[in-house]
Amino acid sequence: MKLENKVALVTGSSQGIGQAISVRLAQEGASVVINYRSHPEGAEETLHLVQAAGGVCHVARSSKKGVTIQADLSSISEAQELVQESTAQFGKLDILVNNAGLEKNQDFLDISEIDYDKVLDVNLKGTFFTTQAFVKHLKETNRPGKVINISSVHEELPFPHFTAYCASKGGLKMMMRNLAVELASLGITVNNVAPGAIATEINKELLNDQEKLNAVLKNIPLGRLGKPEDVAGLVAFLASADADYITGSTFYIDGGLLWNYQEQ
Ligand code: BGC
Repeated sequence: MKLENKVALVTGSSQGIGQAISVRLAQEGASVVINYRSHPEGAEETLHLVQAAGGVCHVARSSKKGVTIQADLSSISEAQELVQESTAQFGKLDILVNNAGLEKNQDFLDISEIDYDKVLDVNLKGTFFTTQAFVKHLKETNRPGKVINISSVHEELPFPHFTAYCASKGGLKMMMRNLAVELASLGITVNNVAPGAIATEINKELLNDQEKLNAVLKNIPLGRLGKPEDVAGLVAFLASADADYITGSTFYIDGGLLWNYQEQ
């Protein structure tokens, strides 16, 4: 197994992509901290799946494969406490998957400060300070580590009516590039995984509207939405030693959506 004796923190893992990542990392042998904000039932479901997926855990101070920890990452102190509590539970962290995120479909002229803050505070500020706490832990314990941000094709591709979301993902792109350079001497790699349209809760409006869905499918050369498991496989690879020489890159996982332009 690729991630034996590793401990991973996956933010926003009570559902969707975060849940699939947690399960896949556990299948590869990792112990997993499952973070949630407001869905303890979802986090419990992830925990059961993680426990069913993993083998016996040999990580110091724990015989568990997973734990759930509540934290709202729009709060810097909660992000810091999440990292502290994770290391208290498992004795260490090796992998951080910054997955928690949200989007709002709004015309630019209608976006309020409150809505702007909701999106940016979790997607960008939350990722920023969770990563800072994680890196401090690695530095203190003098160990290498891996940071994987779940970004979006919209770190690159405009998405009208989702401007706050695009601003957050564009910010994530530059944050990742900066940190890849700044943290390399600590043995920490930083990369982005950028999904296209994946069949999860964040897309429930789309999934319930056949006409809209057909229009989106027309833009995807592979002809289907992605599955959370598609994304999880890429994250597992980037978290493993096979990816030790990879840092500062975005990996698109979008069925070809990003570069698809056709006249008819
Ligand atoms: C968004 C989805 C959207 C997809 C492709 C994702 O980042 O969360 O709502 O369908 O990009 O446009």
